Amino acid sequence: MSGFDLPNDGAVARGERALLIVPETTARGARRSSEARLDEAAGLAAAIGVEVVARRAFKLRSPRPATLLGKGQVEEIATLAADNDAKLLIVDAALTPVQQKNLEEQAKTKVIDRTGLILEIFGERAATAEGRLQVELAHLDYQAGRLVRSWTHLERQRGGFGFLGGPGETQIEADRRLIRDRMAKIKRELEAVKRTRTLHRDRRQRAPWPVIALVGYTNAGKSTLFNRLTGEAVFAEDLLFATLDPTMREIRLPGFDKAILSDTVGFVSDLPTELVAAFRATLEEVASADLLVHVRDMAHPDHDAQAADVEDVLTSLGLADEGAPPRLEAWNKLDLLAGDERQAVLGEAARRDDVVPVSALSGWGLDELRTAVAERLQHGTAIHAISLPTKAGSQIAWLHARGDVLDQQLGDGEIHLSVRLSPADWARFQALQPA
Ligand code: GTP
Repeated sequence: MSGFDLPNDGAVARGERALLIVPETTARGARRSSEARLDEAAGLAAAIGVEVVARRAFKLRSPRPATLLGKGQVEEIATLAADNDAKLLIVDAALTPVQQKNLEEQAKTKVIDRTGLILEIFGERAATAEGRLQVELAHLDYQAGRLVRSWTHLERQRGGFGFLGGPGETQIEADRRLIRDRMAKIKRELEAVKRTRTLHRDRRQRAPWPVIALVGYTNAGKSTLFNRLTGEAVFAEDLLFATLDPTMREIRLPGFDKAILSDTVGFVSDLPTELVAAFRATLEEVASADLLVHVRDMAHPDHDAQAADVEDVLTSLGLADEGAPPRLEAWNKLDLLAGDERQAVLGEAARRDDVVPVSALSGWGLDELRTAVAERLQHGTAIHAISLPTKAGSQIAWLHARGDVLDQQLGDGEIHLSVRLSPADWARFQALQPA
């Protein structure tokens, strides 16, 4: 994904045979059983086309600085890898560069940790120019850290300090320069992309269409739902950002001329810190949305833990605070549930006014979802009678942009408008008025 080759660049080939290891510490949240964690990590591996041929959870009594896992455990892993002809070892934890290197040597496989795995997924899925650049930056940062550390490691190994010559060091220095230059270039490109985006967003802010953002755990069915909901909509040429951002499309909603649906990158648990910035960028659209639809895979045995993970990410982005966009939940994959289980889920959904059960795959429940979304968007809006001098062009334009102008009449040098506005916009409008 980085477009140039570096040693230990970590790139993973599709179809590669992998061994999956979940090291279990007591420190890590008890939200999931080890079986569930193995499933979750296997799902992430599948997302980048890796074939998990064997999997195993290991209890960590005290993490070893050199290899994280114990000596006997590493030997067991090496045997497992050899027996299963696995060329890749996925460790569902954050490894230090030294641990990664040692494990590679001792297991005789390539090693990728959780951060590396998620970076690969983000790299494949980033849909916008900005998202791609952010992920590449995060990836380079990750690699740079690995180069630096293995360099000090090398230094220590040689027992030297001060004078260090030889091809090894020169190579690492060259790699580091390559990474630094590339990072500087990406940062410049990012600035340019951000400027364009702000421009586009400013223009859209004036457009009166509400934006609905889909969020949800990876594999919950966001893209399927996105395609279903936007599939029938006529693709409008005049959407400013239609070509800029393939993850935003027009959607038909009862009672609205137009609305925009925005798809986002899937959430995962334990988002590595390196990735939070990249994630934040892709989620800026979410923060400025008028409504969030949290898509949940109700057929997944761990859907509650997944929902809690999504909640954590939203909270860390300040999207659970007061003033954050309102929410709806789309309980997806209902077609996979049968009998009592299905009845129980439907019963629970019926008791809540913020939940719509659906099947994105079959299209079941989508009309109800559209209606619920439209109702939520209108929720709390009120119609205001506003009179302004006819020369107040910018205020009139603002009302047309932010509100739904139901009627306007001219009389006595004034314009009398009847406008539907959200409470926030009504407050904004009042704040804009001269005393
Ligand atoms: P990320 O891009 O990883 O965030 O995933 P996503 O949330 O966009 O999920 P996606 O739409 O790619 O769906 C994941 C898988 O679930 C695909 O294999 C879909 O076909 C399947 N899927 C989605 N919705 C449904 C559903 O309602 N029923 C069933 N049976 N499968 C579904």
